[in-house]
Amino acid sequence: MSEVHTRPIPAAFIENALIGADDYERMYRQSVENPEAFWAQQAKDFLHWDQPFTRVFHEDLSRGDTAWFADGALNVTVNCIDRHLANRADQTAILWEGDDPADNQAISYRTLYEKVCRLANLLKAQGVKKGDRVCIYMPMIPEAAYAMLACARIGAVHSVVFGGFSPASLKDRILDADCRLVITADEGVRGGKHIPLKANVDRALTDCPEVRRVIVVKRTGVPVDWDSKRDIWYAESVAGMDSECAPEIVHAEDPLFILYTSGSTGKPKGVMHTTAGYLLMATMTFKYVFDYKEGEVFWCTADVGWITGHSYIVYGPLCAGASTLMFEGVPTYPDASRFWQVVDKHKVNAFYTAPTAIRALMGAGDDFVTKTDRSSLRLLGTVGEPINPEAWEWYYTVVGDARCPIVDTWWQTETGAHMISPLPGAMALKPGSAARPFFGVQPALLDGDGKEIEGQGEGSLVIKRSWPSMIRGIYGDRQRMIDTYFSTYPGYYFTGDGARRDGDGYYWITGRIDDVLNVSGHRLGTAEVESALVLHEDTAEAAVVGYPHPVKGQGIYAFVTLKSGHAPSEALRRALIDLCATEIGPIAKPDIIQWAPGLPKTRSGKIMRRILRKIACNALDSLGDTSTLADPSVVDELIAHRENR
Ligand code: WT7
Repeated sequence: MSEVHTRPIPAAFIENALIGADDYERMYRQSVENPEAFWAQQAKDFLHWDQPFTRVFHEDLSRGDTAWFADGALNVTVNCIDRHLANRADQTAILWEGDDPADNQAISYRTLYEKVCRLANLLKAQGVKKGDRVCIYMPMIPEAAYAMLACARIGAVHSVVFGGFSPASLKDRILDADCRLVITADEGVRGGKHIPLKANVDRALTDCPEVRRVIVVKRTGVPVDWDSKRDIWYAESVAGMDSECAPEIVHAEDPLFILYTSGSTGKPKGVMHTTAGYLLMATMTFKYVFDYKEGEVFWCTADVGWITGHSYIVYGPLCAGASTLMFEGVPTYPDASRFWQVVDKHKVNAFYTAPTAIRALMGAGDDFVTKTDRSSLRLLGTVGEPINPEAWEWYYTVVGDARCPIVDTWWQTETGAHMISPLPGAMALKPGSAARPFFGVQPALLDGDGKEIEGQGEGSLVIKRSWPSMIRGIYGDRQRMIDTYFSTYPGYYFTGDGARRDGDGYYWITGRIDDVLNVSGHRLGTAEVESALVLHEDTAEAAVVGYPHPVKGQGIYAFVTLKSGHAPSEALRRALIDLCATEIGPIAKPDIIQWAPGLPKTRSGKIMRRILRKIACNALDSLGDTSTLADPSVVDELIAHRENR
């Protein structure tokens, strides 16, 4: 892989870039040699403070502790909205593109201010107070952003749950965060299909007695069940509210949001981010990684239900005063040209998507791209999983006409913002590499003994110092955060990813080294899928692993053992797949189910996933040592009937 050729940044791009090669070296050096001075300056430059901070940061990674700008106070929406009103009240803040190409809407900063204030007042009128958790289960409509910002306006903590999650997943998240109010819509619309969000909420809430209010946005107007003691319509409720709402000035370390993400064990965990550090780093990376210039239109295709949507649809772009595009639909509706048509329609300057979307569109053929103009594009970005060099080349040459640098941004829900990424005016690109660390980020690679690898090499990717947008907690379970991220290698933040560093100091992320799957850029725990599979009364046991999938990146391969007396059947296979969809969401559907009379286990009864992974990947020559198994013959049986050859 090290022979991959380097792509220089086009000279025309470098000339106007915010950060050049020398700037990067100088600023990076300062950020790690004198972080206090560096971050103090950035925090003053990027954020408006109602009460200035005097302390920059404190950290004790061995206990997962960090605090940034702790004695400062501010409000996120003052930064994202109010302070722009003087100069750009009429500029578009949110450019909404509906699922139907005929639907779009431009929301100015002035309008955004009014919408957010009204909804914030409504939340207050419903008794929501600073620190209370509010669940947002919404389609990709502007009201989703209003809802997040309205929470931030009053110091409430939002927990956005992706609209693709099932009622059961929604219920778990509402209960875990103890949300008392839910904001949703009657339906969502994606690719011409309707998603019954309100009905999902109704089902979830049968087990959530503490939820006393549901605010419902009318998206399609379809009739929905109504609990008149609990449900209120958004539009008529906000109409009576004041269009001014004084911002709640909060401490820098007060929580801004909780966002659930999958780990290698147990149920998804509520990753908690706080206010100032998160906002600073989301904004700074937005500006420098995307080389954002005043007046540009930025489009991140993620859903606001993921961290990418939080940081790069809502908080980063709005805090920077940009115009951010929010897209309700899917890349292939009405056809595979949609992304590029939207780019032309709204003159998008920077475009940020996931490798899985790129691979899917690549498969549809070049014509869908080349028949569009795309001359407004200046920069492309990718996120969510490693991008294979073929997809990178296609994105670069066909979509970007070999004019636009690609920023391959590595980060995580827990990191809040980009951590390793090219700065497009500062470093040459290598297809498949996330390049070099952002300011203040000190990655390291550890070998099997937990020792740092110097220079070139491959190992576990860890981060040596805290950074402003680092995870601050797992909601309700501080110890779990320490165990998950700060105990594996004491003194370091452990990412769960493996990586390689080449001779130029570029990082190549090799993927998860724990039991976390990355399916189409979505994170899933193998344990979550297994728990769903064993809910079926015929299932005795299940083991789930990932395998390479040409479009999704990783597919889900499930080995299922049935209880004695139960025979495999096509109907059972379908029932198990449906069970994963209803328990978790459609993204959790196994691609392959192999009936397994037995699973490879150690004598102490531990399933050896390493072996199952090899079988699922059809990598039979590297099965490794099977002699420690309780019954080595189960491996031969699984190999003989493997489904992926
Ligand atoms: C995991 C985090 C934060 C963005 C969306 C996903 C993988 C993310 C890259 C990249 C290779 C990547 C990692 C990481 N990942 N970006 N550019 N190259 N892998 O957030 O759901 O928290 O998942 O996504 O494996 O650990 P997430």
